[in-house]
Amino acid sequence: MIDVKNLSKDYLIKRKGAGLSGALKGLVTRNTDVIHAVKDLSFHIDEGEIVGFIGPNGAGKSTTIKMMSGILTPTSGSVLIDGEDITKHRKEVVRNIGVVFGQRTQLNWDLRLGETFELLKHIYRIEQTDYDKTLDVMNDILGIKELIDKPVRQMSLGQRVKGDLVASMLHSPKVLFLDEPTIGLDVSAKYSLRKFIKEINQVRKTTVILTTHDLGDIQELCERLIIINHGRMMEDGNLKEITDRIAPYKTLVVEYYDEEAPSHDKCEMIGHEGNVARYRFDKSDITAADIIADLSARKALKDVSIEEAGIDDIIKIAYGN
Ligand SMILES: Nc1ncnc2c1ncn2[C@@H]1O[C@H](COP(=O)(O)OP(=O)(O)OP(=O)(O)O)[C@@H](O)[C@H]1O
Ligand SMILES: [Mg+2]
Repeated sequence: MIDVKNLSKDYLIKRKGAGLSGALKGLVTRNTDVIHAVKDLSFHIDEGEIVGFIGPNGAGKSTTIKMMSGILTPTSGSVLIDGEDITKHRKEVVRNIGVVFGQRTQLNWDLRLGETFELLKHIYRIEQTDYDKTLDVMNDILGIKELIDKPVRQMSLGQRVKGDLVASMLHSPKVLFLDEPTIGLDVSAKYSLRKFIKEINQVRKTTVILTTHDLGDIQELCERLIIINHGRMMEDGNLKEITDRIAPYKTLVVEYYDEEAPSHDKCEMIGHEGNVARYRFDKSDITAADIIADLSARKALKDVSIEEAGIDDIIKIAYGN
């Protein structure tokens, strides 16, 4: 459904010296700095996938989303959506995609939400029956009908994001790009947004590319992750496969009857607070049962539990901290 090949984006920024003399010099000599925001990214996404597109601040995620959705022209490389090149057939291709930026609305501030929807209906020449059906489905998930008569200007952030999501789905796109859609949303709005993503993916087979800093979003929604940093591909694969490969450890949490905690030569004690010690071990090295047997031979254990490496561990490792 999406084919990204050797995609790169350089931003050119005019450099200005400090103060007035710098500004005057700038008029004569046009110095420019180049920012290599995205460097040689290639990946393929199949129809019906939900892919988490993640990376630290400034990694190049939004820049890539903008190139994939035809908002920015790549410096080099190509993006094919359903077999068509977005830069060559932009008009046709944008009919197949929807895009939502959590930080910026695409709705018109001066209109009521319903008026914006009507406008989109005309722009995309959506049949009335399809339009009504989509609104009904969206209403079931997001409860949008009570917002229809509200001026966009008067909407809360969560209401506005819901409006943006519906607007992006009216023309039934095959691909939906979501750039930090859950940013600033409360727990219940996040919940309905995740439900929305699951529904459109299952019922309409919409392919979803999701940028987020919310680990809960990834855990709930994404089987596959693409991780980028400094504009480059770091990881691309199944969430579980990436976890097992780059964070192949578990943590054994042991509570003792007093504050003294023995060490174990096959694992690292990564925490010790009060009566509780935390031991990290490599799953391929030793089993939790063996460590528990060794420790309990030396000291009475009050309680034990085991923690798997989580999504936050992967992200820390993949981002390089
Ligand atoms: N319009 C622009 N002009 C110049 N540089 C830009 C522009 N937009 C982004 N950049 C730079 O490109 C790099 C990538 O930015 P981008 O917004 O794609 O990152 P991001 O991964 O979306 O980060 P975040 O998680 O903070 O949203 C950054 O160094 C940023 O400063
Ligand atoms: Mg961004």
